[in-house]
Amino acid sequence: MRSHYCGTITADQIDQDVTLCGWVDRRRDHGGVIFLDLRDREGIVQVVFDPDTEAHFARADKVRNEYVIAVKGRVRARTETTVNPNMPTGEIEILGKELEILNSAATPPFQLDEHIEVGEDVRLKYRYVDLRRPEMQERLRLRSRITSVIRRYLDDHGFMDIETPILTRATPEGARDYLVPSRTHEGKFFALPQSPQLFKQLLMVSGMDRYYQIARCFRDEDLRADRQPEFTQIDLETSFMTDEEIMTITEEMIRELLKEVLNVELGDFPRMPYAEAMERFGSDKPDLRIPLELVDVNDLMRQVDFKVFNGPANDPKGRVAALKVPGGASISRKQIDGYTKFVSIYGARGLAWIKVNDQAAGIEGLQSPILKFMPDDIVKQMMERLAVADGDIVFFGADKTKVVNEALGALRVKLGEDLNLFTSQWAPLWVVDFPMFEETGDGNWTSLHHPFTAPACSPEALEKDPAAALSVAYDMVLNGMELGGGSIRIHQLEMQQAVFRILGIGEDEAREKFGFLLDALTFGAPPHGGLAFGLDRLVMLMTGAKSIRDVIAFPKTQSASCVMTEAPGTVGNAQLRELNISLREKPGA
Ligand code: AMO
Ligand code: AMP
Repeated sequence: MRSHYCGTITADQIDQDVTLCGWVDRRRDHGGVIFLDLRDREGIVQVVFDPDTEAHFARADKVRNEYVIAVKGRVRARTETTVNPNMPTGEIEILGKELEILNSAATPPFQLDEHIEVGEDVRLKYRYVDLRRPEMQERLRLRSRITSVIRRYLDDHGFMDIETPILTRATPEGARDYLVPSRTHEGKFFALPQSPQLFKQLLMVSGMDRYYQIARCFRDEDLRADRQPEFTQIDLETSFMTDEEIMTITEEMIRELLKEVLNVELGDFPRMPYAEAMERFGSDKPDLRIPLELVDVNDLMRQVDFKVFNGPANDPKGRVAALKVPGGASISRKQIDGYTKFVSIYGARGLAWIKVNDQAAGIEGLQSPILKFMPDDIVKQMMERLAVADGDIVFFGADKTKVVNEALGALRVKLGEDLNLFTSQWAPLWVVDFPMFEETGDGNWTSLHHPFTAPACSPEALEKDPAAALSVAYDMVLNGMELGGGSIRIHQLEMQQAVFRILGIGEDEAREKFGFLLDALTFGAPPHGGLAFGLDRLVMLMTGAKSIRDVIAFPKTQSASCVMTEAPGTVGNAQLRELNISLREKPGA
């Protein structure tokens, strides 16, 4: 129908006849002349109708915002005074000759340029209108470019794109499963995959050597700004590659991607052991753009006369850590109260602080509610360790290590944002040497990654001291976001059985749930490993979007529903009967 996209017309087309199709972005009546801004995927162009065209002019007079029209006309230069340098098509306009209304449109639920004022629920209910906004179009276009660059990279490096089932059995990745009832097998359920993990491992047993898939994953978990119940992974797996080789090839992929799409040079990715990340940043996904670090002061606090501090300092599972903020002494009491409230979200029961007003004056030059509890020499040693200067503030966290790390780790990022302490725009790294297991509190163990991750030790050493075992796993972190994670997998039966035992998965349960994997490990499974990136998170970072929902065409809300289609929905009795499902009466219903 069309000869050109609206947004692509330039002075090169002057005096050419063109046919354009699109939406009316704006209509203005300028004393007998009608201006239409016509919009399509590629941009906006100005069309002018004057009364000479009679019938077409009359139609132009009738159109309203978001009408769909086709226009035939001639490209002409704008007069010098009407050139719009802010518009890619600002040097020209179309003198309209014919106008056909292809469809009318009801008044849109919101102005396309006023979305900020519009609640997200309205945007999501009319998502197809929301997606007309140039900002959303740009994000989805970038997303498409990203997957295309990634596909090309992986194709060029010998990866085969292979699909894996959506209707399957549970693949544990730490979330709840979405279940689908089977009609043909009464009382039985499929699980939607939390990831293609087991299938990609089986593909390695099949000798596929290098697999990838842009794969949809489903996880019923609590949602946050960077989580969706249905999201997309760039999932890959390789055989006969070491962890180093896998990190190198995937790091190169991300580096090339950012270079090609954003013209950003990421440089080399530092590797940081998990223990170091937790100690220095309180997080296994540190944002290295922020130059603040946690410093342990346990040893100094063991003797102080302040239970809040000496308790955790003497507890093997406790931690007392300091976070120095250069120049932070100007933070007001009110702001400190705000930060105290902020850390309480993470379970911190307070936020002690010391302001360094005049270092030369010694203790007198410090200001703090906790100095009274501490001998002067301890304070002095602490200040030396922290290398404080006039104008600094030091915050303290004292509690179980987990609470201190989470609270001060989050405070570190918040201070970085509030005080704009960023030292670079991009800060990638690999976090490595993760523990194999985490204690669940009741003396049981759970995998830090998933149960198919290979430990860096023998099965015997693993069973002897699960707490000490490290895994051959690696997470890629970019700007404080976990972009991807993976590992070398267990490829030998004995090791897999040992891990299941530690996790409290008995032989019968292991056979029932993962019999197919255990069998496969006996039929010549090669050493293998891989990784999965969160595509949505990658697009978020690359577009600067604040919410994961802004980079997904049709996302779910925070409560995991779709306000547009009203999914999930109820189903009729006939359908339930067919599935042999009867719903329990709601109490009180
Ligand atoms: P993992 O569970 O770490 O690993 O997931 C890999 C990456 O997927 C992204 N991600 C999510 N993105 C949006 N919404 C979610 N709910 C969500 N959950 C995870 C993250 C994460 O880093 N099978 C393993 C990978 C492997 O070992 O190869 C796995 O799924 O960016
Ligand atoms: P209090 O004696 O309770 O007034 O506490 C003195 C200071 O210690 C206050 O600034 C509290 O915010 C802080 N504080 C209390 N509990 C903790 C904790 N667990 N970690 C860090 N600081 C704390």
